[in-house]
Amino acid sequence: MTNTLQTPSEILTHIDAGVMTLTLNRVARKNSLTAAMYDALADALEAANHDAAVRAVVIQGHETIFSAGNDIGDFLDKPPATSDAPVFRFLRGISSFPKPIVASVCGPAVGIGTTLLLHCDLIYAGDNAAFSMPFVNLGLCPEAASSFLAAQLMGYPRAAEALLLGEPFMAESALEMGLINRIVPPAEANALAQRQALKLAAKPLTSLMETKRLMKKGNAGIIAERMAEEGASFGRMLQEPAAREAFTAFMEKRRPDFSKL
Ligand code: COA
Repeated sequence: MTNTLQTPSEILTHIDAGVMTLTLNRVARKNSLTAAMYDALADALEAANHDAAVRAVVIQGHETIFSAGNDIGDFLDKPPATSDAPVFRFLRGISSFPKPIVASVCGPAVGIGTTLLLHCDLIYAGDNAAFSMPFVNLGLCPEAASSFLAAQLMGYPRAAEALLLGEPFMAESALEMGLINRIVPPAEANALAQRQALKLAAKPLTSLMETKRLMKKGNAGIIAERMAEEGASFGRMLQEPAAREAFTAFMEKRRPDFSKL
């Protein structure tokens, strides 16, 4: 059965054969994410959680771009001030989602475009995938428990390079560090993610969920706690001069000047 839910068109939601596929669909703005898109993603995950017919979720972008991270203009207009903000709602939803999540990543995956992947179970990347967490370059701090998970997954020195320098790393490095499962040509990534999700959807849901719960159990408490602490710092730092300078510079297409900050 095919069923398309009514969600904003910048997040396409499609359910077929036990798989809910969420497609980031704002390619002209490089799939940067607005508050409305976070709400749509959080709503879709909540629906998938409660729908017994959904046994796995796929998150995918376009073969040229996964996501440029938060929409910077939206951040300036509507900074997430409280823990109820859509971005934090989405992060709580994805980090505690009990069914398997498969991601397909091609092109740049910036900021939350990379950190949301730390909460996915299987990740397939195009050979053009470029991951980055440039929070420091934006006068911010990590989110999505990446200050904990990046070091746990990549080892501290490589996490420090990724988070303190904020430089991108490519699919080959991500594979070598164990952050992703496989690299394929970009045109094949979404189809591979779909095939793997269909395999998951054919398995007993209770076994999938119990296995995921047991695998994630050791981290669950610390992730929730770290996300709350990061969220408080992130919300405060968004209002501070370094972030205002970084975002204004982005909008004005110039290099930020942190020399006096
Ligand atoms: N927020 C708002 N708009 C964004 C955006 C973002 N995060 N990322 C890209 N855009 C916009 C650009 O401003 C540009 O708009 P314009 O056509 O009006 O000039 C358009 O999307 C295309 O982006 P462009 O930078 O020209 O594409 P590119 O292919 O050269 O580069 C990226 C792609 C993702 C590498 C680059 O856009 C980028 O670094 N974006 C910012 C990422 C970022 O800092 N995110 C915040 C993380 S917290």
